[in-house]
Amino acid sequence: MSECITVRRATSEGVDVIVAIAASSALASQWGRERYEEMVSAAPCEVAVQRSLLVAELAGRPVGFASASALVTVAPAEAELENLAVLPAFQGRGVGGALLAAVLHWSAELGAGPVRLEVRSANAAALHLYRRHGFVQTGVRRGYYAAPLDDAICMECRLQ
Ligand SMILES: CC(C)(COP(=O)(O)OP(=O)(O)OC[C@H]1O[C@@H](n2cnc3c(N)ncnc32)[C@H](O)[C@@H]1OP(=O)(O)O)[C@@H](O)C(=O)NCCC(=O)NCCS
Repeated sequence: MSECITVRRATSEGVDVIVAIAASSALASQWGRERYEEMVSAAPCEVAVQRSLLVAELAGRPVGFASASALVTVAPAEAELENLAVLPAFQGRGVGGALLAAVLHWSAELGAGPVRLEVRSANAAALHLYRRHGFVQTGVRRGYYAAPLDDAICMECRLQ
């Protein structure tokens, strides 16, 4: 039986859960709580950089999140997937894919051309997910990540 995954915009009440989900994964970017607070409080349509913080729920329980930004003062707009994480116990059930699809949808609605991201070269699950959603490698940043040292694979998905 397929599980019920829903993706919605995060609210300030959900920031604690997002911080906890990020903390559960060493591979996710670790941001301070303030950065998430800013994302949910930023007034849309007033800034050159639009932001999106999305939460995925599995049967009503928040289990993953994604954050993205888009520079909308260029044409076409340029989007970036900034962070993506799913609680370890709930990985492999399509939650990451649902979040990524939602980020691509949000980017397309803003008229984005490229959606870009960086990922550790050793992160096989994320690389697989990104390739499956149309991302291709555009470059490598040698030694970009620390603890452990790793290269960043730069990827891009072209929406138009
Ligand atoms: C990357 C991540 C978000 C994916 O979330 P998820 O809910 O497991 O994603 P999905 O279930 O939609 O898809 C995962 C895919 O990766 C595949 N996969 C899982 N582990 C894998 C591995 N070690 N090597 C290759 N593919 C792998 C799964 O089979 C699945 O592919 P499929 O649908 O073609 O079978 C999750 O693994 C995660 O939170 N990782 C830690 C944080 C992270 O790495 N974030 C990305 C930073 S750039």
